[in-house]
Parts: sequence; C-alpha cells; structure tokens
Amino acid sequence: MQETISAIDIGTTKICALTAEVTHDSLGNMTLRILGEGQAKSRGIRRGVVMNVPEVTAAVAEAVEKCEREMGQQIVNAYVGIAGSHIGTLNSKGVSPVDRRHGVTGQDMQRALEGARAVALPQNQEVIHTIARQWTVDGQSGVQHPVGMSAYRLEVDAHIVTGSSTAINNLVQCVVAHGIDIDELVLEPLASNEAVLKPEERRMGVAVVDMGGGTTDLAVFREDGLCHTVILDMGGNHLTNDLGNVLHAPFETAEELKLRYGTVLPERVAEDEKVWANVFGEKAERSFSRRFIAEILEARATEMLEIIHKKLEDSGYLEQLPAGIVFTGGSSQLPGLSELSREVLGMPARIGIPAAHLPIHGLSRALQSPTYATSIGLLLWGLHEDARAVHRRFAAESNTGSIDWAGQTMRWLKNLLPG
Ligand SMILES: Nc1ncnc2c1ncn2[C@@H]1O[C@H](COP(=O)(O)OP(=O)(O)OP(=O)(O)O)[C@@H](O)[C@H]1O
Ligand SMILES: [Mg+2]
Repeated sequence: MQETISAIDIGTTKICALTAEVTHDSLGNMTLRILGEGQAKSRGIRRGVVMNVPEVTAAVAEAVEKCEREMGQQIVNAYVGIAGSHIGTLNSKGVSPVDRRHGVTGQDMQRALEGARAVALPQNQEVIHTIARQWTVDGQSGVQHPVGMSAYRLEVDAHIVTGSSTAINNLVQCVVAHGIDIDELVLEPLASNEAVLKPEERRMGVAVVDMGGGTTDLAVFREDGLCHTVILDMGGNHLTNDLGNVLHAPFETAEELKLRYGTVLPERVAEDEKVWANVFGEKAERSFSRRFIAEILEARATEMLEIIHKKLEDSGYLEQLPAGIVFTGGSSQLPGLSELSREVLGMPARIGIPAAHLPIHGLSRALQSPTYATSIGLLLWGLHEDARAVHRRFAAESNTGSIDWAGQTMRWLKNLLPG
C-alpha cells in the first residue's frame, strides 16, 4: 500500500504538484491529508499538449521542487493528468466465458475489459483508459454488480480513451526526467469530476465541463458511469486573446482586465463605468467602457457554450442530463457564467468547487477553488487505485484468489459502474 499519493497537473497556464498522505478514519475509510503543494507558471504547453519538452520539464521541476520543499521529502511516483485534442474516445464491447461453478469473478471482468480494449486503433494512437459502462450477464443487460452471478457469458460495454503516442511520450518525458515514476496517466475530466460532482448528480445524469486556460474538457455521467468525453481546443486564453485583439492590448493586460473587471453579463454593468489600461503604441493608459469588455467576453463565452450544447446534442445525451452542467476549472470563475449557461443551454448549471465534503484533510483555502479540481481529482483517483491495491494484496495473502480479488475489482470500478 502506498503511504503517500502525488498528483501532477500539467495545465496550459499552471503546473500543480500535490502530495497527500493516506490515512484511515475511525470507520476504517481511507482519507487523504495534504502534505505538500507546489505550483509553477506553465510554459511550453499549447492547448493542453506539450510543445517544448525542455521548457515543460523545467516548469514541472519548479512545481515539484516547491512541493517537495514544503513536505520535506521527495516525490517518487505520481498520477499525471492528460488532455488535449489528440484524445479520442470510442465505445467498444468485450466478452468473457464464465465458469458456472464459481460465478462471475474479477478475472472474468478483467478478461472482458481486455477484449473491449483490443480495438483497431489508428496508427500512432494508444489506449489510455478502458472503462466499464455496463455489464451484461447471459444476455441480461444493465447488471450493476456481476461478481458471483452464476452465468456462462459475461459482456461489457466499455468506454475506451485513446491518445496520440507522440503526445503521451512527450508528456511522460517531462515527468520521468525528474526520476518520478508515473503511477497512471489520467484523463483530466475523469480526475476533475471526482473532486466536484455529488453522487446524486452522477447517478441522475450530469455533464462536467472543466474550462481551463487552453482546453475545455467535457465528460457526461449517467447512472454512476462515464458515458462520453470530449476535449475541446478552447479555454480562458481565447477570452483573453479576444480582449487583447479588440482593445489592442498586450495579453498580460487583457488577462488582468478579464480577472479584475470581467463578467459575461454586460447588462449588470453600469453603462458609464470606465476602466483604464495600457495599449499598444500609446504611452498613457486608455479608458474603456467596462460594459464593452463584458460584451466581448459574453460573445466568446456564448460561442463556447453553444459548442458545448452542440457536442452534447451530437453525443445524444443532451436530453438525459437532469442534473445539468457542473462547470469547473479556472475559467468557470468568470462571473455570470452559470447564469449565461442556463440561458444558452436551458438546463441547470452550477460551479463545482473541490471543498470540505471531500475525504481530504488540510485542503487550504487556496486549493478550494475550481482551478484545482483536476489536481485534487488526481489525488482522489489515486486514492481509489490505492484502495484497489490494498484489497488485491489482501486477496493474495488470504489465498482466496479470484473471488476476493473480484470483490476488490468491484471497488475499483465503483465510480465507473452504472447505478
Ligand atoms: N476569476 C477568474 N475569472 C475568469 N477567468 C479566470 C479566473 N481565474 C482564472 N481564470 C482563468 O482560468 C484559466 C486557467 O484555468 P486552469 O488553471 O484551470 O487552466 P489549466 O489547467 O492551466 O489549463 P488547461 O486545463 O486548459 O490545460 C486562465 O485562462 C485564467 O484566465
Ligand atoms: Mg487544467
């Protein structure tokens, strides 16, 4: 069993390294206690993808070293987030025969998942995750917990997440260069949903939208299972670029204007309110209407929401989301976003913040922000993996082999299985 879990979130705008200690509460549940946190400004990343390995490696070193200094020990292994438009997803089926005497075992489930994973992939693509969506036992579909069921045949509907081998290798290099082993590459929306969704939302049907600096990740959950994922090449940087282009202001100035005065609800801003900023080609600051700034942001945010609407429509899940949309990621803090979303998408919307309800102690106020949903979600993902490892070891020690291991596989899959 791992005593600590580390996470490295390599985003387009920031890199965040976190380490937590695995503890047990009085009921025996595993929880986390944050030991260290380190951040660095990102460089060498474009739209979630490593473009310059030495630059990213140096930025990762900065974040990792800060985290290590804070906790006084080294990071030896870590869960690392992955995103970018090279990510593809597809649904696939796998089958396994079942020995009727024992009923369905963990190995049968594993075999079925491996079958689902064996899909023909385009060249230079590899599988990152194979996630069970639903199980079918002897033709009976929608089975939630197949373990132990007497049957001849087990089938799985799986969601396969793939990525470009080149993009994966570049990302891996930037981490292993520091002597850090990668526990697992985790698709970012799979991590962030762990930090912000309520179990009820995941059961009823919800879309998590992680709006970062360079990417917007969309993941749909229904009946406790992941149904659909899309990584979009758009994020907060587009909003900042729009402001910069229209106002003729440098990126840094536009970013500051967005963070200080930005909103996507221009009608809430007084018509005569002015703000001042530097622009290209002029020494003195220039004044701008704050409402005009809001109109620029509203136009791009509306376009982004319309794209999300279209992606949900194309996926066939638009009408199956009673819990609506949960926005997270740094850009979800743009004032008025959930109101605008309710207007554009016509469904409930809220901002998801990793907060006190999570099994994590020592979460600083600064970390309780949508900006850290992926980083914290990576730790939670690791915690679930850790639980699986403990139970697997227990199964091996108690020599009860397949049946116990099967039970543990169920725990591992618990967030991914329907209902
Ligand atoms: N209060 C705020 N209002 C509006 N936007 C904000 C606010 N705070 C942060 N942002 C925006 O959030 C973005 C960064 O978000 P985040 O840290 O989630 O991105 P990232 O993880 O680095 O990038 P990505 O996940 O896209 O690769 C930036 O574009 C920033 O301008
Ligand atoms: Mg991010």
